[in-house]
Amino acid sequence: PQKSNISDANFPVDAEGRTYHLGTKRGEVANRILSVGSEKRALMLAEYLEPVAPGRGLFMLESSRGFLTITGRYTGAPVSIIVTHMGMANADFVVRENRHAAALHAASSCADADADDYSRGAVVEGEMAIVRLGTCGALQPPAHLGSFVVADPGAILIRRNPDAFTPEGEEGGLVPYTFSRPIPSDPALSLALEQEAVRLLGPEGVCRGLNATADSFYSSQGRRTGWFEDRNETLLADLLCCYPEAVTLEMETAMLLDLARCSRGSIRAAAGVIALADRASNHFLAAERTEQLERATGQACLAALARTPLDDDWGPHNGSGP
Ligand code: URA
Repeated sequence: PQKSNISDANFPVDAEGRTYHLGTKRGEVANRILSVGSEKRALMLAEYLEPVAPGRGLFMLESSRGFLTITGRYTGAPVSIIVTHMGMANADFVVRENRHAAALHAASSCADADADDYSRGAVVEGEMAIVRLGTCGALQPPAHLGSFVVADPGAILIRRNPDAFTPEGEEGGLVPYTFSRPIPSDPALSLALEQEAVRLLGPEGVCRGLNATADSFYSSQGRRTGWFEDRNETLLADLLCCYPEAVTLEMETAMLLDLARCSRGSIRAAAGVIALADRASNHFLAAERTEQLERATGQACLAALARTPLDDDWGPHNGSGP
């Protein structure tokens, strides 16, 4: 067989200990992570970071899969901004591979850390806080076009059920879409995010509510396109019947919250989303307003992360890191 420089098929890392999709290794990723959907947004928010150590630039690395990681400090606290792109699979890469990298970073400060640490996998060493800044569709008040909505109390997951689209599934009356139970966000981190957003945007621009994360921008968010049989005509009404408190629709938050819940207590997670599309009125937010909101809410996310106390080894002023 051809030689591979990947050492572990279970949790692939290269000879340097770089993860397979994000390409980062220990020491390059901070325990406080801001996950954003696009490179443009990440670079814009990186303008608010300072280098980890004086006289050095920000750490920046883009993997072959297009995941960009930028590490610096915000008000003294080490923070990484990471481009997550879209969808649950990408959120899974970002959380799992950074849990790995951050755990290995923590191991690097131990006197007995050695190369074996690279193959330990997602060892729980050092807490992480992850905040997602995304965009969403607004379903109903208090969320409206241009609102910043904190996913508090959390998110549910909407999944398309392929079996329902088979003759047997139809005969058996399988439902085409299923709704999970609510997955909680971290209350303290969510509150910090809401407070920081209110500080920067004022109370009218900020609200909180249950998020619904869908496995498609189209079918499982009730969008109708005609080319596909989606059987989603009543999806949004069904969602609101099941969860009358649901206010936003997007594609990542429930995955982040589920992984945090399953992280054996090592990850705290919260999410806030800018309402880009109003699903009731069918209006879409103008690009200039979106950028203003991205800047303000991005700083709110960074401030919420920076004020979150974590048991991490970077230490705000110890000058370690990339
Ligand atoms: N992102 C989504 O997933 N849905 C929207 O309607 C807008 C942004």
